[in-house]
Amino acid sequence: MASFSLSFLQWCLISILFRSAFSQLSENFYSASCPKAHSIISHHVKNAIKKEPRMGASMLRLQFHDCGVGGCDGSNLLDDTKNSTGEKSALLNLNSARGFEVIDKIKNRLEQSCPGVVSCADILAMVGRECVFRLGGPNYTLPLGRRDSTESHRLLADAMVPIFLKGVEAQIAAFQSLGFNKNEFVALTGAHTVGMARCESYRQHIYEDKNIDPTFAASLQANCPKEGGNNNTAPIDNRTPFVFDNMYFVNLMKQKGLLATDQGLFTGKGGPTDAIVANYSSSKDNFFKEFASAIVKFGQLGVLTGTKGEIRTNCRKVNTPKA
Ligand code: HEM
Ligand SMILES: *[C@@H]1O[C@H](CO)[C@@H](O)[C@H](O)[C@H]1NC(C)=O
Ligand SMILES: *[C@@H]1O[C@H](CO)[C@@H](O)[C@H](O)[C@H]1NC(C)=O
Ligand SMILES: *[C@@H]1O[C@H](CO)[C@@H](O)[C@H](O)[C@H]1NC(C)=O
Ligand SMILES: *[C@@H]1O[C@H](CO)[C@@H](O)[C@H](O)[C@H]1NC(C)=O
Repeated sequence: MASFSLSFLQWCLISILFRSAFSQLSENFYSASCPKAHSIISHHVKNAIKKEPRMGASMLRLQFHDCGVGGCDGSNLLDDTKNSTGEKSALLNLNSARGFEVIDKIKNRLEQSCPGVVSCADILAMVGRECVFRLGGPNYTLPLGRRDSTESHRLLADAMVPIFLKGVEAQIAAFQSLGFNKNEFVALTGAHTVGMARCESYRQHIYEDKNIDPTFAASLQANCPKEGGNNNTAPIDNRTPFVFDNMYFVNLMKQKGLLATDQGLFTGKGGPTDAIVANYSSSKDNFFKEFASAIVKFGQLGVLTGTKGEIRTNCRKVNTPKA
């Protein structure tokens, strides 16, 4: 077992996530106060995906980055201000996170229908659920009632990057400290069955790593040269890039993972998550079942409820900026 220790900042991150974990959310939170919330969100997500299938993946990732950085509090939607640089411009998101305009559109529509009621954090959770479902994935019931943060967590966003890039042992440890076992962690990464990555994110893997199918690596090099082209994209699951299925896991077993961190989940040499990847690659049902329960749980990390936080009227700005 590789040794692994968390930095002080990483511990702060994890303690914030537990500030009110698994607290008082409820499935029918908006049934009286905003009964149309679900249909409004469903309608807009459907249209956005029809216009651009990748948008389903991009908005699902927004939910992950919200919850993974300081809890599910809509903090990654806040624009930088003169006085504070937040998560949006952090390395994790810069030139990469997308879908904010669709979230704005949904928020505006909800504000017309039921002003000041539906939080941006809940919008992200409901949008994420809708994206998974519309792309062909499982449908699941979602506890609601999150409130929005009044600040963006820049330091925490920066602290996440090294955890994610350190390799499978470190990732297992990080997810475990958030309360997720290996089955859940691997299922969550199955979200990479949809969407695209930038050359910058996979260049090293296709030129330098040994654990990649050589023909697959070669096929990616024209669009991702050794220098330049950082923004060029390739599908993370190149078989069915915009279908939420279990093809991502099938690819990993053939050393056709695009991201080094993903391929690290299957070594073919008895690695710590090999059997789980094999499980999900042979059973879409097992993957769907585990993904649904893990994402519902992930969506409750560090939520603000009761009188904590606020319901932003514009997801990009806090209601009353601090002087
Ligand atoms: C250890 C965990 C993870 C790592 C290291 C990781 C890393 C990455 C990277 C490097 C990209 C490409 C970004 C770019 O080049 O612009 C990406 C994309 C993506 N990630 Fe993850 N990710 C992780 C977990 C997750 C989880 C848990 C979810 C959702 C539940 C998720 C959803 C996505 C989606 C949907 C995309 C494609 C976005 C698009 O097409 O716009 N990821 N991820
Ligand atoms: C990548 O795209 C961003 C905008 O999304 C731009 O600011 C940046 O200059 C681009 N980088 C390259 C290498 O083209
Ligand atoms: C998905 O699940 C939710 C919550 O259980 C339910 O309200 C909705 O009708 C389901 N949608 C479909 C298309 O099955
Ligand atoms: C496969 O995954 C499912 C869902 O996570 C789990 O219930 C089952 O125990 C796993 N099977 C094996 C052999 O690990
Ligand atoms: C930034 O801070 C100054 C003084 O502290 C304040 O007057 C100003 O309103 C703040 N600006 C924003 C955008 O929050």
